[in-house]
Amino acid sequence: MEGSVVVASSPGRVNLIGDHTDYTGGLVLPMAIDRSTEIRATLGGDAIDLTSEAESVAAHIPLPAGDPVAIEPPWARFAAAVAHVLGASGGFRGHITSDLPIGAGLSSSAALEVALSFVMRAEMDPRERALACQQAEKLATGVPCGIMDQLTVIAGRAGHALVIDCHDLTIEEVPIPADAAVYVRFVAARRLATSAYAERVARCAEAETHVGPLRHAERSAVERIADREVRDRARHVVTENDRVRRAAAALRAGDLPAMGALMRESHASLCTDFACSTEQMDAEVERLSHVDGVHGARMTGGGFGGSVVVLADAGVSAADLGEGFLRVRPSDGARVRPA
Ligand code: GLA
Repeated sequence: MEGSVVVASSPGRVNLIGDHTDYTGGLVLPMAIDRSTEIRATLGGDAIDLTSEAESVAAHIPLPAGDPVAIEPPWARFAAAVAHVLGASGGFRGHITSDLPIGAGLSSSAALEVALSFVMRAEMDPRERALACQQAEKLATGVPCGIMDQLTVIAGRAGHALVIDCHDLTIEEVPIPADAAVYVRFVAARRLATSAYAERVARCAEAETHVGPLRHAERSAVERIADREVRDRARHVVTENDRVRRAAAALRAGDLPAMGALMRESHASLCTDFACSTEQMDAEVERLSHVDGVHGARMTGGGFGGSVVVLADAGVSAADLGEGFLRVRPSDGARVRPA
């Protein structure tokens, strides 16, 4: 309603296990975290006017929003893309604040898209919203991303991780054991994320022309793919889906050592078969595996830089792990409320 003030907020996410599986309809096991992006907005008018504490240049987007790629400054493309996909006709003036590290692989862009979508449309089926925001991310960045980030920050549940089947978008909530703590550490800025990510998506699609949907493929079929690179990428996806299934069982059983072992295997697979880790991340994961109370660590998210995620005993503090670690707690998903 014209003149009403709303506050929309969306958490970021960390993926515990299951990377580079979502865009082939595979399994992922992320959780929404207690770091978020918030937009305070006054509804009304026929344009979107946004300021952000993280950006020096304001965004002005006349509605209806056209092709977001042409919009300046670049950060305004996220708002233009969400408005475009939702067909938003009602404008607003808003200010964005966030305690979510930007560009660290914790889904700051999904959080922004989803919070914006709540300002533009308060009521929407969660899966429809996630698909719309995924579409907006693709339009705004050109990255052919999967659904994990947007669906996680929408559907997050306090105290739980989510097993998401990225084919039918069903979600199973799995409690994080009370004796576990999850930490993240930003290791390195991403390099070439756009092109390398898209290239991996293409290799997986190529594998599917040989063995059918990777989510159903047998390891033995994958081993018969002639092209080594395509075979390696496909092997990662098939084994990672299996690791997610076993990780969900380990979490349900409260078996942290088993979960940690799967996280280490996942990292090794992302490093060798999927070739999307970096030396710095490998060294950090290796170092962490020798720290007392740590069950497992791995790179998390798209890779080529970004953050590592650590599963440790609840008694382990951030300082015990080294410098720059942030404890993250499984949190509820995005929402909007009247100010
Ligand atoms: C990025 C993408 C997700 C997913 C991960 C890798 O975060 O946005 O869709 O593909 O990389 O698991």
